[in-house]
Amino acid sequence: MKRHLLSAADLSRDDAELVLSTAAELRSLADRPIKKLPALRGRTVVNLFFEDSTRTRISFEAAAKRLSADVINFSAKGSSLSKGESLKDTALTLEAMGADAVVVRHGASGAPHRLAHSGWVRSSVVNAGDGTHEHPTQALLDAFTMTRHLGSLDGRRVAIVGDVLHSRVARSNALLLATLGAEVTLVAPPTLLPVGVDSWPVETSYDLDAVIPKADVVMMLRVQRERMNGGFFPTPREYSRRYGLDGRRMATLQDHTIVMHPGPMVRGMEISADVADSDRSVIVEQVTNGVAVRMAVLYLLLGGAQPVGGDE
Ligand code: NCD
Repeated sequence: MKRHLLSAADLSRDDAELVLSTAAELRSLADRPIKKLPALRGRTVVNLFFEDSTRTRISFEAAAKRLSADVINFSAKGSSLSKGESLKDTALTLEAMGADAVVVRHGASGAPHRLAHSGWVRSSVVNAGDGTHEHPTQALLDAFTMTRHLGSLDGRRVAIVGDVLHSRVARSNALLLATLGAEVTLVAPPTLLPVGVDSWPVETSYDLDAVIPKADVVMMLRVQRERMNGGFFPTPREYSRRYGLDGRRMATLQDHTIVMHPGPMVRGMEISADVADSDRSVIVEQVTNGVAVRMAVLYLLLGGAQPVGGDE
């Protein structure tokens, strides 16, 4: 593995498989009464969140704590400094505190790259979501969840549906799933597909009903209205009718097909409540797996050589 995890494209197939197999070992911990390992004792992980997020921050926090690292949560939201200055000043502060890993979420695409390559910090940088760009640990936890249900992803068909334009989850998934041999189809209205999607390793479609009966995985994306200023689709009702997953559409899926969502869901918009709560939905499991996958990432970036169980 490289020193930083900024993009799903940083991961070779071997790297990605190493993260997934390490996560599988660590996942067994989630079912034990004592969930802690000494692997990162004495190491410091800083969660640097410039954007609102509960689930991702808590997930990284739980992951670091289960490996016995010290965790500092740095919520930089509301800072009035200009972005370049505030990022640099914050970075220097973190460096002075002796951070070994910085987990960063930022509203600007590219902020984690800036942090990693500026020379401001010596720590490993993990991208926990930057603007509409990437969210590599989400893609890893999604791939992990898929392999637990489907085995190898080679030749598996994954439909990623909805607001691809604003979704860092979609981009990271497209890249990682291609690395792992899956075939991805992005399904969205034309207004919610990004310019340049032709260069992604995916197919695209505007027709949800045509795609999902062949899919092994249907991943629904939240419509990110906070990043929109109108005009992307006629009405929420019309959006749900064409691109929402409801019980009627779910009935057209193959028996083994799973339904995923990175959260937070907007029930009734991209996914109906009965689908979200159905047996096919692995949405809650994605959250559990997220902790194991982030433990694996932190462990491989920081601990590395020793066996994961340790013997201290
Ligand atoms: C996603 C994100 O923030 O990119 N959520 C997450 O990390 N679990 C997707 C979203 O906000 O819809």
